[in-house]
Amino acid sequence: MALPLSFDYGYLAPDVGKEEVQAFQADVDLAHQKVTQGTGLGSDFLGWLDPAQIVSAEELQTIKTLAAQIRENSDVLISIGIGGSYLGARAVIEALGEGDGPEVLFAGNSLSAHDHAKTLKKLDSKRFSINAISKSGTTTEPAVAFRLFRDLLEKNVGKDEAKKRIVATTDAKKGALKKFADEEGYPSLVIADSIGGRYSVLSPVGLLPIAVAGIDIDALLAGAKAVADATAEADVTKNPAYFYAAARNLLYRKGYSTEIFASFEPRLHYIAEWWKQLTGESEGKSHIGLFPASVDLTTDLHSMGQWIQEGRRNIIETFIILDGGEPSLAVPTAENDLDELGYLQGRQLSEVNKAAYEATSLAHRDGGVPNSTVHLAQLDAFSLGALLYFFERAIAISGYLMGINPFNQPGVEAYKTNMFALLGKPKFEQATEEVKAKLAALPKDTTVSFS
Ligand code: PA5
Repeated sequence: MALPLSFDYGYLAPDVGKEEVQAFQADVDLAHQKVTQGTGLGSDFLGWLDPAQIVSAEELQTIKTLAAQIRENSDVLISIGIGGSYLGARAVIEALGEGDGPEVLFAGNSLSAHDHAKTLKKLDSKRFSINAISKSGTTTEPAVAFRLFRDLLEKNVGKDEAKKRIVATTDAKKGALKKFADEEGYPSLVIADSIGGRYSVLSPVGLLPIAVAGIDIDALLAGAKAVADATAEADVTKNPAYFYAAARNLLYRKGYSTEIFASFEPRLHYIAEWWKQLTGESEGKSHIGLFPASVDLTTDLHSMGQWIQEGRRNIIETFIILDGGEPSLAVPTAENDLDELGYLQGRQLSEVNKAAYEATSLAHRDGGVPNSTVHLAQLDAFSLGALLYFFERAIAISGYLMGINPFNQPGVEAYKTNMFALLGKPKFEQATEEVKAKLAALPKDTTVSFS
C-alpha cells in the first residue's frame, strides 16, 4: 500500500547529501537494533513500537463505548492532563476535529488561576464529563485541576452521578489517581508501564479524548501501523523516518543547534507542540540536543521570518506540507484591480499557499538554513497516524544516534522539587531547608523599578 507520507531532503544540500547519510548507515543499523530488539538504554519504554499492540481489541472497545457514552450525555469533555498526558490528544483534535459531538476542553496543563476560572465559567449550564489523565497519578497540575472540575461536577449532578461521568486514565497499580479511581469506582483506562508520556498519543491517553471528538481512532492506529510496518527496513535510502533521523544528527554534528518545525497549515499548530515535547524531552539531556522550535506560516513569516532568513546561522528547518485534501476556495474575481490581485483571481488558495511554501523553503535555503520537508498526501486520521508514528520512530532512532536514552526525562524533576519545597509539601522538609538556604544566599536588591 502506498503510504501518504514522504520526505524530501533536497534543500539540506550542501550541508548534508544522500552519500553522507548513506555513510551513516552502520550507526543507523545499530540504533535500529536498539529500538527493534530492545538492546538500548530505556528499552523498558518500547510499548509504543507496534501500534497494533498498544491497546488490545477489548481495550479499544472499552474506549469506544466510553466515548459513545460521553458523546451521548455530555456537551463538553474536560480532558485533564499535562505534557505527554495532554499534547497528543490536543494535537490530533485540533488537526482533525470537526466540532461534531462534545467540545473537548483541556485543563490541568498550567497552574493559571485565570485559565482554570475561564474554563470553569464555560461550563455554566453545560453537561460535562471529565477524563483525568496522569500516568504517575501524582502530577500537581492535573491533580489540582481534577479537584476543581470534580468539585463543580459533584455540585452540578451529585456525587453518585458524577462518578459515572469521570474516567480515570492512569497506571494499572500505583499513584494517587489510581487509588482515587478504585475508591470511587470511576471507569478506568490503563497506561502501560512501557509507554512514556510523549509516546502515549496512540494509547488510551490520547485515544479516549480523540474518540470523544468524533475522530476515527481505528484509522489513526492503522496509519501508524502502516508506517511501523514500512519501517522494518533500516536502509536510510528506503526509510524516510531514518533518513530524517540521520540527517538531523549530521546537521547537529556540524554545529546546527536549533530545529524549527514549520507548517503552512494552522491546524497543525499543536502537532508542532507535540513534536517539541517529543524531540525536546527525548534528546535534551547530558547537555546535548537540538533545541526544538516551531513557527506557523505564513503567519510567522511576518514576525519570525526576518530572523530565520538572516539571523544567526545555527538553525535547520523541517516543513510539514499537506499536498492535497484542502477545500476548494478561489480568490474571487473583482470588478477593479485596486488591490492588485488580478493575477490571482480564480486561483485556488491552496495553490497560493503552496507557492508560499516553495518560495519560503528556497529563500531559507539560499539564506543558509538547511531544510527538509515531510509531505503528507492529505490530512485525515490515517495520514495523521502515519505522521505521528513517523516522528515517534525517527526521534527514538535519532536519540540513540545522539548516544542518549531517548525515553527518560530526569531533568523535569528539578523544578518540581523546588516547587514542592516552596509550597511545604510533606516529606520535602529537607528540600525546603536547602531551597531557603539557596534563596538566602542570592544577591539582594536585584529589582529595578521606575522611580
Ligand atoms: O513525557 C512525560 O513523561 C511527561 O511529559 C509527562 O507526560 C507529564 O509530566 C505528565 O505526567 P503524568 O502523566 O504522570 O501526570
